[in-house]
Amino acid sequence: MTFVKFPDDFQWGTATAAYQIEGAFDEDGRAPSIWDTFSKTPGKVLNGDTGDIACDSYHRVDDDVRLLKELGVKMYRFSIAWPRVIPQGAGEVNPVGLDYYEELVDKLLANGIEPFLTLYHWDLPQALQDQGGWENRATIDAFVTYAETVFQRLNGKVKKWLTLNEPWCISILSNYIGAHAPGKQDLQAALDVAHHILVAHGKTVERFRELGIVGEIGYAPNTEWNEPYSSHPDDVRTAALRNGAFNEWFLSPVLKGTYPEHVKRWYADKGYTVKIQPGDMEIISRPIDFLGINYYTGTLVKYNPGAGDLYDSLDIRSGFEKTDFDWNIYPEGFYNVLTWMTSEYGALPIYITENGACYEAKNVNGEVNDANRISFLHKHILALHRALESGVNLKGYMVWSLMDNFEWAFGYSKPFGLIDVNFQTLERTPKASYYWYNQLAVRNGLEV
Ligand code: FCB
Repeated sequence: MTFVKFPDDFQWGTATAAYQIEGAFDEDGRAPSIWDTFSKTPGKVLNGDTGDIACDSYHRVDDDVRLLKELGVKMYRFSIAWPRVIPQGAGEVNPVGLDYYEELVDKLLANGIEPFLTLYHWDLPQALQDQGGWENRATIDAFVTYAETVFQRLNGKVKKWLTLNEPWCISILSNYIGAHAPGKQDLQAALDVAHHILVAHGKTVERFRELGIVGEIGYAPNTEWNEPYSSHPDDVRTAALRNGAFNEWFLSPVLKGTYPEHVKRWYADKGYTVKIQPGDMEIISRPIDFLGINYYTGTLVKYNPGAGDLYDSLDIRSGFEKTDFDWNIYPEGFYNVLTWMTSEYGALPIYITENGACYEAKNVNGEVNDANRISFLHKHILALHRALESGVNLKGYMVWSLMDNFEWAFGYSKPFGLIDVNFQTLERTPKASYYWYNQLAVRNGLEV
């Protein structure tokens, strides 16, 4: 056995998001978000589940901070619910909403845990959606004002800030594929949303600098790795296009100030355009301090002449093992995406803001044996170490998720947590993976 050690300043953490864990959907002045509307629309979320109660973290902050502390992690990534802070999206601020987050931040700091704050993890105030949501450029300014409100309140306490979580999901998944709120199916609308959220990101970074907020700001795109099934030029081109649409579309504007030409051409050939206004690309590419990277999966891509669309799934009989979400287990893809990013964009500091797996495991008298999650994490953390050794500027890693929670369109059917949550009693039970991760965090490495 050898011990694989991480650098002394490497940080371990876990991640969650407001709508997935908080509950308290109508308390203390919180107004509905697009996820309240979507989850209450019949047929949108499995079993009609909603985030009304979720893990009830709104009322159980003490429990959850204690569990984090006992886990031995030094970072906790959470998100702010915009409709708690500015319930109508623009206009009046709800100070009680901010109090809740300040209390959470204070408790984390008192326990030696660094707060890693996401400003937008998908819960757009419904009032803004009623005026066109992210398709409407007015939402950009509403977001910057909301961000500024949070900056002012938590300046000096929070030192790690993320603007957006997973722009591909906010745009394509939610407005073209239609699987997430607001559930549209319109590719042009999705591209408009993609562009507007990137401008919102850039303007927020600009505001952060103008206000002289202490700390670092970045954002968290989701990545996946598409490997060509063969060296046939059709497969190579298709894999590049899928990587382009998924990864580059959201990285190149921010890090290079341009959209990737090959993807832009593909969209243009189908009649879709990016509506760039003068100055947009300069704003989008304002320098950030670090990148947050979410990685779960990837695949082999085979050209399918019958597929009319970039996002049609291709049956490639890849032979990958899968998690209980049916996602390919592909740690090599993690390594590939990180090394590709470094060669393409340079060695910007990177935090892995999400990585993890869905596995069901029964709670048997207070014991939850999720050996498959441990194996998944083990493989991905080794891939991460290899990436570090290859020169990727990695600073930390956060498991998705601290606890089982509301998994969007799949409701409570897809557990990702290190902690089991009984959604009837809301009781939390650490799983085997929680104790395993504790050892990893404490020893800053793992055995192979
Ligand atoms: C990511 C989301 C996160 C969670 C995981 C499983 O796409 O950012 O909220 O749902 O997937």
